[in-house]
Amino acid sequence: MWQKNKKPEEVFTPRASDVNESMYVNRPDLESNLIRGLRSGMHLLTYGESGSGKTWLYKKVLKNLNINVYIANLANASRLKSINAEFANLVNRGQQAKKTGYSETKKADLNAGVASGSLQHQGQYSFGEMEPFEACLSHIRNLSGNEQAILVLDNLESIRADQNLLTELANVITLLDDERYASYKVNLLIVGVPGDLREYYRATPNLTTVANRIREMPEVSRMTLDQCKNLIYQGFITELKYNIHDIDSVISHISWVTDRLPQRIHEYCLELAFIGESNNRTIDNTLLDEADKFWLKQSLAANYTVIESMMNERDTKVGRRNQTLYSLGLIESEEFKWSDIEEIVRKEFLESTNNLTLNIPQILSGLSVKDNPIIKRSPKKDAYCFSDPKYRMCLRAMLRKSNNLDLVEKLPISEI
Ligand SMILES: Nc1ncnc2c1ncn2[C@@H]1O[C@H](COP(=O)(O)OP(=O)(O)O)[C@@H](O)[C@H]1O
Ligand SMILES: [Mg+2]
Repeated sequence: MWQKNKKPEEVFTPRASDVNESMYVNRPDLESNLIRGLRSGMHLLTYGESGSGKTWLYKKVLKNLNINVYIANLANASRLKSINAEFANLVNRGQQAKKTGYSETKKADLNAGVASGSLQHQGQYSFGEMEPFEACLSHIRNLSGNEQAILVLDNLESIRADQNLLTELANVITLLDDERYASYKVNLLIVGVPGDLREYYRATPNLTTVANRIREMPEVSRMTLDQCKNLIYQGFITELKYNIHDIDSVISHISWVTDRLPQRIHEYCLELAFIGESNNRTIDNTLLDEADKFWLKQSLAANYTVIESMMNERDTKVGRRNQTLYSLGLIESEEFKWSDIEEIVRKEFLESTNNLTLNIPQILSGLSVKDNPIIKRSPKKDAYCFSDPKYRMCLRAMLRKSNNLDLVEKLPISEI
């Protein structure tokens, strides 16, 4: 039977928050760690940079295990200036019929109570009315019967700068030690970006007991090469039914420029799939330059502009700075020292560096103190890291060594 071809945007969905089963790539190590965590009966914390696949991972695993999952979005809590308000939302979403006007009438009280923590909230609710967190646990327990139930607190990063909300979160976790709250048998899964937890501990000094009850999952980070390969195969071959010539070089390019971050792989593949659509559903590596341009323009435009401004400055040393930028893109580790960069510059640009002093420390420190620094000093003293991981991808997709001389050129994106 004739079947309609799928469209690129049905296959590559960089911003979808619901899992597309036919595109989910297994990540066995992360999955089995999460499964063990769920069996441990502890509250869980999982973290990883934005777009690394945390949300898809827990949704997929919880669904496979048939565990009831309820999601409170801390970005919403941040907008509402109260985690309790998001708990109330969660309950209301589940019982749309029961419109209490609760978050309207109680909002002032909620806000007033936040600073002193949710323990003090309880007195603010009229007789017979549960405070929002307990109402939420009770709601979840009612819907879940005797089955395991998890309350996810996603996007912890959106409250990291808000002391009041961090305190409110600490109180929520502490409350779960309280017999009444614990009796609902709902466990938390807290989802955030790297660094969140440490800041969170600093913000809440009395948290050691809480820390004992939280099990930290290994970081969700880039995919392995095989997982990235699977994703590309799954999308282009199985789902879209494209022809790909020289698939190995296509895969190696995509995994290089995207740093194998799932969201970025989807973004890149979406652009490449659009290009392939008007090329007879055929892809080869001559299309990669164009895909780079579209991806840079659609997804990394702000980073592109910053890097471009550093290249355009009228400066006699600009050649060396461009070589330094190019070399930064080649770094694979999170942190690097100036000597690591110098080694790469010398290796990549043999002729123009031979027997010369390069002043890499000055160039790096220059790149780290601009208005929009692309690198910053890492907590460990003499090392640097990228101020945003997108810069690494942008440098990789954007900069090319020119054929002769030791010059670095940028891929122009203005004409598309
Ligand atoms: N295991 C996976 N397999 C395939 N694609 C994935 C996978 N995990 C994430 N993605 C892709 O990356 C995007 C971002 O993932 P998401 O889980 O929302 O990241 P995070 O929650 O860490 O920001 C998803 O919309 C999806 O396109
Ligand atoms: Mg997420």
